[in-house]
Amino acid sequence: MPTPKLSELIPEHIRNLQPYRAGRTIEEVQEEFQLDSVVKLASNENPLGPPESAQKAAMEALASGHRYPDPAARALRRKLAERYDLKLENIIVGAGSEGILASIVRVFLEGDDEVLTADAAFLGFPILCRTRGIEPTTVPLNSEYRFDLEALAEAITDRTKLIYLCNPNNPTGTIFTKSEFDRFMKKIPARVLVIQDEAYCEFAATNPEFPDSMDYRYDNVITLRTFSKAYGLAGFRVGYGFGHHELIEALWKVKLPFEPSGVAQAAALAALGDSEYLIEALKINQQGKDYLGRELRRLRVQSYESYTNFLMMVFQSEEQVQYLFLELQKRGVITRPLVQAGLPKCLRVSIGLPEENRRFVDALEEIVKGLPTPY
Ligand SMILES: Cc1ncc(COP(=O)(O)O)c(C=O)c1O
Repeated sequence: MPTPKLSELIPEHIRNLQPYRAGRTIEEVQEEFQLDSVVKLASNENPLGPPESAQKAAMEALASGHRYPDPAARALRRKLAERYDLKLENIIVGAGSEGILASIVRVFLEGDDEVLTADAAFLGFPILCRTRGIEPTTVPLNSEYRFDLEALAEAITDRTKLIYLCNPNNPTGTIFTKSEFDRFMKKIPARVLVIQDEAYCEFAATNPEFPDSMDYRYDNVITLRTFSKAYGLAGFRVGYGFGHHELIEALWKVKLPFEPSGVAQAAALAALGDSEYLIEALKINQQGKDYLGRELRRLRVQSYESYTNFLMMVFQSEEQVQYLFLELQKRGVITRPLVQAGLPKCLRVSIGLPEENRRFVDALEEIVKGLPTPY
């Protein structure tokens, strides 16, 4: 009998799957370009480091490392329930908001269900859909790189099961507004599940036009949030979701029981109570964003108003973006080209500490000086 090829064990949609490619690491770039110091402005992390309160709580939790954590994450969920005036049954936590997104895809998608989203929304989402053999149907962003909610509503068919919204959107940094969201929700049938990914909501919260999903109570909307961005805990892997208790209960059934770890739960609980850290993080981010915005205008680099902790720059061509990405790395700055997100002329830079932002601007200035205008 001929020996079967191992690849035949792997379903076709997994064989063809292009995995998520994360931003380059500091160590990789240091080694490749023989650099003493490198700044990473590629993954929208919090440049302040984790809150000290969270580090302390995590250290204390290490002593219980031989025990499984509370699978219901009660202490953390109680605090979230208190903060957002919700019942425990409406809240789930997971290994990052992406962990919950993975559970959503597993629970709700099957067969020939159709999924709708924008063509340049958070990249992790279509990859998760493809793990179920489903290719999302996408509508273009509008001319301001914003979600086109009208076009999304018009694209709904009898097979549409789920719509993924990302607000503010990664990688563009833009938002859709309250009035746009209100008009959109009026057109959404109750049988369609809407995911509101609000990974960056803390950075947009002061904008009165931002539709904070806590102000709404739609039965068919699940909100996802994270401790990875404003709370500085990306490496700990804690995200949370809010929704109707029947939907949340279904998610608990498929979620891996002991995620997030006990150390991560303890860190998140402490971070949630650390308003000083959050205020400082938002302040540093706003100052850095204002500085980078001014400097990009001075250098005549096109960028759009961002409601997040990163900025998206738009250049003339993909070749130019690849050139800038490489030249910035040679000068010790890691950014993120957006070709995989369907925006080949765009480059994303995360807001760093003041000295990191300056280093990026100095390197960018040196590079664009040598380019023909407009770039
Ligand atoms: C829009 C969006 N959603 C979700 C995530 C995943 O975040 P995490 O799994 O760390 O909570 C990210 C990470 O960059 C993101 O940008």
